[in-house]
Amino acid sequence: MNKIALSITVLIIQFSAAAQQPQRTPEQDSTIARTQRKTQADHKAMLTLLGIKELRPGRSGNPNGANPANYDEAKANPYPNLPDPLTLKNGQKVTDATTWYHQRRAEIVEDFDREIYGRVPANTPSVKWEVVSQNDTMIGAFAAKIKHLIGHVDNSSYPEIKVDIELNVVTPAQTKTAVPLIMELSFRFPAWFRLPPPPDDQPKYTPWQEQLLAKGWGFAQIYPTSYQADNGAGLTEGIIGLVNKGQNRKADDWGALRAWAWGASRALDYFEMDKDINAKRVGITGHSRFGKAALVTQAYDSRFAIGFISSSGEGGAKLHRRDCGEVVENLTGSGEYHWMAGNFIKYGANPTTWGDLPIDAHELIALCAPRPVFVSAGDKGDDWTDQKGMFMACVAAEPVYKLLGKKGMGTAQFPKVETPLTEGDLAFRQHSAGHTPAPNWETFIGFASRYFK
Ligand code: GCU
Repeated sequence: MNKIALSITVLIIQFSAAAQQPQRTPEQDSTIARTQRKTQADHKAMLTLLGIKELRPGRSGNPNGANPANYDEAKANPYPNLPDPLTLKNGQKVTDATTWYHQRRAEIVEDFDREIYGRVPANTPSVKWEVVSQNDTMIGAFAAKIKHLIGHVDNSSYPEIKVDIELNVVTPAQTKTAVPLIMELSFRFPAWFRLPPPPDDQPKYTPWQEQLLAKGWGFAQIYPTSYQADNGAGLTEGIIGLVNKGQNRKADDWGALRAWAWGASRALDYFEMDKDINAKRVGITGHSRFGKAALVTQAYDSRFAIGFISSSGEGGAKLHRRDCGEVVENLTGSGEYHWMAGNFIKYGANPTTWGDLPIDAHELIALCAPRPVFVSAGDKGDDWTDQKGMFMACVAAEPVYKLLGKKGMGTAQFPKVETPLTEGDLAFRQHSAGHTPAPNWETFIGFASRYFK
């Protein structure tokens, strides 16, 4: 069964109107229907486990649809008080780095594990990396070396489930020293799905891969859906299903975002052994759902030196307490709950509210401190991600950066589109081309150059 073909339903709905889609075969149709049924059943089982009878509905992206998303700033902050990243659970203030690292940070991680993203099991299977092929190639005008790798996950504990991580690594051909590298968590679309071409009136950007090679850096692309499907049906398969021996998740088990981040960390294990790569200078990036996963990756694995977090929105850098664009209830529905821990679903059902979350997105960003993070968004066409909610989360993460001797963005004023705030260690820029990372690569690379000299 093609796991990849089962995924990305939301994206497909989003794009299918615009793109000329190839005809789906009857087999593909029935696979999709089967996935949807299995997803519904898994979602329902989790609601039963949590004792939830009814969920509040998600918001619609269609202004004329039922329950449309709010974009009125006057109504966007129903829970204006954010949890303080620098107050311990016992009420004591955190005023030094030691207390942050040894006490407060651990409290925040525990809350994210239990309530939001779920726990990575204490013992995850080992991964054996195989270089399947290695070739000299040209990427645009740049001579490069490309390696195709497979990470074979040890499945001796449950041979019924086989898991392989797909990874491509590209480094400049001419280099004598180990190079910095940015790894993207990459989309892979099923055969029957075609992305629409960009509109003719939009500026063309140099592909990010070429921009990185021009700098003398490398890039990698990891395919998260190769090891964890992007749907609820896949939760009893992939790395999550393997560790659970094919059984359903518990309420605090990891969701897909944590699983995708786990795979990124395994790729970094490989980079540490590859002499072409400077593993101390590896950045992580992703867009949209993989923007969320990129932020989770950086927050949980302090070996990632920098992050370019593109249009991550709800479940990523956007404050859950904001009522703007996508909201918690969208994530708790059957289309997206698999990204999260089962426990997160409570926050989309009465009497629990967003205001009851013990932590919020600013604390996920704070977990990255003192390492640099660039939070990226587009303009109007990216409103669903709540650009301002992501900016506010960066502002609220600043006290942690400052405590650790780093600099925030230098302002709490939401900047105009195309105003880079890149002087500090927390950076933000809204470009003017909607839901895409493309226009912000140049700004990100400039920002990263300060660290990867
Ligand atoms: C949907 C979803 C977003 C997600 C996006 C994507 O729009 O609501 O949360 O980021 O899909 O990943 O494409």
